[in-house]
Amino acid sequence: MKTLLAIAPSPRKGGNSETLLKEFCRAAEDAGWNVDLVRVNEMNFKACQACDACAKDGQCIVKDEMQDVYPKFISADALVLGSPVTFGSMNAQLKMFVDRFQCWWNAKYNLEKPFVKEEENKKGFFICVGALKRKRYCENAEEIIKVFFHNINYKLAGSLAFRGYDEKGAIQQDPDALSQVYQAGKDFIVEVEQS
Ligand SMILES: Cc1cc2nc3c(=O)[nH]c(=O)nc-3n(C[C@H](O)[C@H](O)[C@H](O)COP(=O)(O)O)c2cc1C
Repeated sequence: MKTLLAIAPSPRKGGNSETLLKEFCRAAEDAGWNVDLVRVNEMNFKACQACDACAKDGQCIVKDEMQDVYPKFISADALVLGSPVTFGSMNAQLKMFVDRFQCWWNAKYNLEKPFVKEEENKKGFFICVGALKRKRYCENAEEIIKVFFHNINYKLAGSLAFRGYDEKGAIQQDPDALSQVYQAGKDFIVEVEQS
């Protein structure tokens, strides 16, 4: 069975980004996939300490819950992330999580031994939701996702941005948004299975 790794960084369990993420995942489950949901806000982990120990062997020496996450990125068949906008970009939890892949950057660029090889053609999808209508905020978050994906050898197959949703549960009042995400999930799974 194939596995979709789903990264949910919002502190609001069942909030707007997690609701959208789960709708995307539902499409994967309907296609017979297993979903592995990681709630970043519930993880106990530190920010990258910039110790550069990983330059030696690509391994992070900070022994916390990120150590359980790295293997998931190696074994997953595809990836989806869903972030709320905070202060004009992805939320702090997700940025801290992304920065902990500095060891993967070292593995790819300094050691030339990436954990995921480009030829594996792994793909991911990004969903972003913010309260304000300004386009730039989700674009800022997506720019970081592009850098992240490039460094870990995942290809960004697509993204969706939802603006104007603030209260917890606001997105539930918008069936069009939910069906758009479900359809994107369906299309994504087909694309991954055909590649
Ligand atoms: C600390 C904080 C900062 C925020 N900053 C922004 C912002 O800069 N732009 C924006 O559009 N929404 C901002 N928001 C609103 C959230 O993006 C919005 O409520 C979103 O629906 C939350 O998603 P969630 O339910 O998945 O947590 C902010 C929310 C918080 C808690």
